[in-house]
Amino acid sequence: WVLMKTAQTPTNIAVIKYWGKRDESLILPVNDSISVTLDPSHLCTTTTVAVSPAFHQDRMWLNGKEISLSGGRYQNCLRELRRRACEVEDKEKGIKIEKKDWEKLHLHIASYNNFPTAAGLASSAAGFACLVFALAKLMNVKEDDSQLSAIARQGSGSACRSLFGGFVKWIMGKEEDGSDSVAVQLVDEKHWDDLFIVIAVVSSRQKETSSTSGMRETVQTSLLLQHRAKEVVPKRTLQMEEAIKHRDFASFAQLTCADSNQFHAVCLDTSPPIFYMNDTSHKIISCVEKWNRSEGSPQVAYTFDAGPNAVLIARNRKAAAQLLQRLLFHFPPNSDSDLDSYVIGDKSI
Ligand code: DP6
Repeated sequence: WVLMKTAQTPTNIAVIKYWGKRDESLILPVNDSISVTLDPSHLCTTTTVAVSPAFHQDRMWLNGKEISLSGGRYQNCLRELRRRACEVEDKEKGIKIEKKDWEKLHLHIASYNNFPTAAGLASSAAGFACLVFALAKLMNVKEDDSQLSAIARQGSGSACRSLFGGFVKWIMGKEEDGSDSVAVQLVDEKHWDDLFIVIAVVSSRQKETSSTSGMRETVQTSLLLQHRAKEVVPKRTLQMEEAIKHRDFASFAQLTCADSNQFHAVCLDTSPPIFYMNDTSHKIISCVEKWNRSEGSPQVAYTFDAGPNAVLIARNRKAAAQLLQRLLFHFPPNSDSDLDSYVIGDKSI
């Protein structure tokens, strides 16, 4: 017999960034972070998990290619889930798995991203969240989503925020064992549904410095990170929560752009410095800043993760259409400064 479950999980984009760990193996951050979860039909991961007595080892395929599960992050997630697995019974198929059987049974996992994994578009966030969610369903894990987020966190920090829709806060927590470092939903996806996200794919090449090694170097060498984590983010997080609660786009945009810029300043303050944005990223920032100023109130917020691609959050669909016109004008297709593609809603062009 084979028992299977499938789950789909969208990626999330941080508007207050997570950068820096206080514990590398448990993946505990140095500050709280806040993200917006994309619509599940856009950038998402679909994962099917299966268990069968005929399987002789845990195996995983990503976009059809087998990958190794030997890494600590996968092992930590699988261990935590097996520990919490409960009895499963499928009377129709005549299957009964006892709690203790999960230690011996092996799993097969097949995961697909509906966007290029190499494009640097937060694939690990959706990937680990989906893996944990699908396995929790298969193994009848009874924990709530926040407790599951603490398991996904051990796969990749940003993954813990992808278990909820809408706006999500990852509370850094204080406990050494990470038990209070969990994600919570601030508001659901219906709360602010005017917002429209456009991703300008500046380069679909894989980033040179991974988030994991980049943030390790920042923690070791940047004084600015300490100021950011202790002085800036705690206040900014509260202000961001207020802006989200009141759908105050002007404050939301100001805080989002400032936090992205400070994150990249912290990367520059790292020794050796880390450059995630390139000239095109900088031109996009100037273009948005100029437009926002000429309108008198912000129309678009920009944020950049560990790569050159711009995530642009427009205040509504009209602003998104105008933004796209501007981008096409400033970065004409097939010119020297063209972009690789745009991801707009569920379309990629
Ligand atoms: C810049 O979650 O990819 O996207 O925990 O080491 O797997 P690990 O790092 P990861 O880092 C994401 C960093 C970021 C900001 C954010 O998503 O908050």
